[in-house]
Amino acid sequence: MSVNLDEKIFDKGLANTIAAESKMSYIDGVNGILEYVGIDIDSLARNSTFEETTFLLWNGRLPNEQELATLVAAFRAEYHIPAGLIDLIKTFPTDAAPMHALQTAVAALALHDSEADVNDPDANLRKSIKLVAKTPAIVAAFDRHRKGKEIIDPDPSLDIASNFLWMLNGEKPTDTMSKALDVCLILHADHGTNASTFTSLVVISTLSDMYSSMAAAIGALRGPLHGGANEGVMRMLDEIGELDNVDAAINQKLADKDKIMGFGHRVYKAVDPRATYLKTFTKGLAEDTGNLKLYEMSSRIEEIMNEKVGSRGIYPNVDFYSATTYFSLGLELDLFTPLFAIARMVGWTGHCMEQLEDNKLIRPGSNYVGPHEVPYAPLDQR
Ligand code: SDX
Repeated sequence: MSVNLDEKIFDKGLANTIAAESKMSYIDGVNGILEYVGIDIDSLARNSTFEETTFLLWNGRLPNEQELATLVAAFRAEYHIPAGLIDLIKTFPTDAAPMHALQTAVAALALHDSEADVNDPDANLRKSIKLVAKTPAIVAAFDRHRKGKEIIDPDPSLDIASNFLWMLNGEKPTDTMSKALDVCLILHADHGTNASTFTSLVVISTLSDMYSSMAAAIGALRGPLHGGANEGVMRMLDEIGELDNVDAAINQKLADKDKIMGFGHRVYKAVDPRATYLKTFTKGLAEDTGNLKLYEMSSRIEEIMNEKVGSRGIYPNVDFYSATTYFSLGLELDLFTPLFAIARMVGWTGHCMEQLEDNKLIRPGSNYVGPHEVPYAPLDQR
């Protein structure tokens, strides 16, 4: 709904508002197209790596061999997290939500960075590299801590995806596992001004710092309407239990007007191309790991939703099949959204660096609907 108030538009949820210009992600919601700097997401998922995709999103072009090697080395030099931060993570309650632990630890990274408040492009690139390199170590360290296990040091001989699985499980992942995770990181790296990215822009537009901005973005991502949906999909599949139960369960949820996690999107009114890719990609992984039932249940849910609400533009989004992918990779449910954050750290930092190239404080108006000329009543008269 848009109402014109003295030349200002009231646009609830900013659904019809363009709030930024960007060269990073192009989304065609009608035709279900996603491009990173003009390269189709399907091509990147098939051919690129998370590190190469990061260079693309941050620099507006693919790297040459030397540039890629330089960025990879810069990430690996920053995989470790400060000893003081490890000590802090060890004080976290073992039943804390991993996204709360991640948000706290990312904010705490600022305490260990002498240039936390330096807002020039070079300093912010260095901080972006640190944030992308260290977020996996934070997620893994908290998970090991909450399970009473030794925290594992990163292995700088491994790429970001493999190093995360190494620090999480204490064993080198198979090539299949590493490749599957690397593809997921590519698919989740950026997506325009989604709620968490917009949050990061609001914070950096005040000339606050990268760490504060990323901590805020993590807070926005954890919501079940946004990045938290992947965990919600898995909980829904677990609750339904069996393929035979799918039809009755989904029809009941629709009858109850429940939101089906992993479906619908503010921009896509066609199938999210990331879901399309993940659906095909995940089938093989699910077969290899004995989770084909989850895939079959998901496919049946998609069929029902297409029949019932497809005409309303409600289709699978990235979170729907990523749930089965992450489960097949052996990740616990409450690590699904932290994994989303590991990937989206690239988009958040990239958009913040872009914002600072031509910054303007983000401060929308609001339509006051309260009373006027109200007299102050003394306490003894209320
Ligand atoms: C992500 O923005 C991004 O780019 C996000 C993301 C990224 O990469 O950053 O793509 C990642 O967050 C994907 C979305 C993950 N969230 C979910 O899967 C949660 C379930 N989806 C819905 O809550 C919803 O679709 C939203 C929040 C994603 C989008 O909602 P909108 O645009 O605010 O639209 P809406 O909630 O007003 O829905 C419009 C209608 C409503 O029906 P009516 O009230 O008009 O009768 O569609 C219905 C909704 O009830 N609807 C659904 C539905 N999603 C919308 N009905 C059932 N199940 C759903 N999932």
